[in-house]
Amino acid sequence: MGIEHNQWRGIGLDRQVQPASSNPVIVNGEMLAMWRGENGPVRVWEDRCPHRGMRLSFGFVRGDSLRCIYHGWAYRTDGQCVEIPAHPDLTPPKTICAASYPAETRYGIVWTNLERAAPSPLPDLGPEDGWEPVRSLYVNGSAAQVEAAIEAFDFGAPSMVRLKHANAIALGIGVELELLIALQPVADNRIGLHVVARGASTPETRASLARRLQRLRTEIEMAQEKK
Ligand code: FES
Repeated sequence: MGIEHNQWRGIGLDRQVQPASSNPVIVNGEMLAMWRGENGPVRVWEDRCPHRGMRLSFGFVRGDSLRCIYHGWAYRTDGQCVEIPAHPDLTPPKTICAASYPAETRYGIVWTNLERAAPSPLPDLGPEDGWEPVRSLYVNGSAAQVEAAIEAFDFGAPSMVRLKHANAIALGIGVELELLIALQPVADNRIGLHVVARGASTPETRASLARRLQRLRTEIEMAQEKK
């Protein structure tokens, strides 16, 4: 596996992944299921049931197990199949296991790495406290176009790039506000942005930031249309 493969990428905002839900996510064309039990952290799995390949993001959660919607096989949080409804007396063999990816929640963002066997550690992007979710949005554009547009964008006060690392950009805006934007490559020309802020303590400030991000998306996509 190449260096490109072994990278952490933000794929969603932790607070937006509801308890007892399973959600589809695409990273570089790989279909993933991002799911959370009734309690506990978000898990990231291959979006494929080991039985007959149904998408696990269509599944449903009971307690801390994810059940496939097709034949109801249940997988506990480590991926092991623990129940096959058509054979209630059978203990599923250990070999029946959903494929999982490394997943971590930090800065209010869910991160994953497509390298399963030996992922590098999730990079340190600074202090973890005080980050509030702003929004996720998806933009038509390449990673390079999106990054350049973020760096040039008018966030309403002088902004400065503080850090570019782990497919994320940290910006200081004015004297009090910090933004952390994780970039999720969905496909060559489609990027997810997962944005958290520090210093945006009121809902109004975060709502204003969310509107500006909407404008950022419009600017990126209009610039592409002109080409
Ligand atoms: S395809 Fe998932 S249980 Fe059959």
